[in-house]
Amino acid sequence: MRTPVIAGNWKMYNTIQESVDLVRGLKKEIEGVGNVEVVVAPVFTSLSAVVAEARGSAIKVAAQNMHWEDKGAFTGEIAPAMIKDAGCTHVIIGHSERRQYFAEIDATVNKKVMAALKAGLTPIMCVGETLQQREAGNTMNVVATQVREGLAKFTAAEIEKIIIAYEPVWAIGTGKTATPAQAEEVHKAIRDIVAGIAGKNVADGLRILYGGSVKADNVDELMREQDIDGALVGGASLKADSFARIVKFQR
Ligand code: PGA
Repeated sequence: MRTPVIAGNWKMYNTIQESVDLVRGLKKEIEGVGNVEVVVAPVFTSLSAVVAEARGSAIKVAAQNMHWEDKGAFTGEIAPAMIKDAGCTHVIIGHSERRQYFAEIDATVNKKVMAALKAGLTPIMCVGETLQQREAGNTMNVVATQVREGLAKFTAAEIEKIIIAYEPVWAIGTGKTATPAQAEEVHKAIRDIVAGIAGKNVADGLRILYGGSVKADNVDELMREQDIDGALVGGASLKADSFARIVKFQR
């Protein structure tokens, strides 16, 4: 059985104090909840404080991005080992906002995923089509290319350690969630692609999260789909009670 993952992407919100308050509230709300991996991804400046506040709880901490180089003259960037040093266990890679506004492409996503694994971080690699691509009937091609190129040159043993998040760009922050059937169709296709690359065993163990307007009132039906193993949550992760309800999804 795949352990579900519920991850909160806080994006560019929250001061250090607000981040600490949020994780403190969340800790209380989800005390005793088991069989789910809970991850929160604050801004860089809040990472250490959130790690400290989360200590002793089941909450793990992720960064939202990183560079693929170990160190060097890369003004404004942060290295995988630095994120690890701050106490993170996970890192989000290739979020559509990174692709859209900061020119990330599959080749750099691939390098970052590799660098994350080398640093001992679990990468959450994001893929997903735009509305235009969906309307043109290109969803499967676009997602397949992102998955194949993102995972290019990886061994099965490496792919086993990766989490993939399917986030249709048209569903992010828009209130328009993919229907469970729409999401499941793509999740299943991703699992089949990974089976082709890394074998059925690895594909069967791979966690594939859905992201895009996941909320307390739609998480349950999404989680009932066979190939949906969790959620990457933006807006609804910014309040402890709504995120906690998502963590406590009912299948
Ligand atoms: P949303 O964002 O839940 O606000 O749609 C999801 C994401 O961007 O990861």
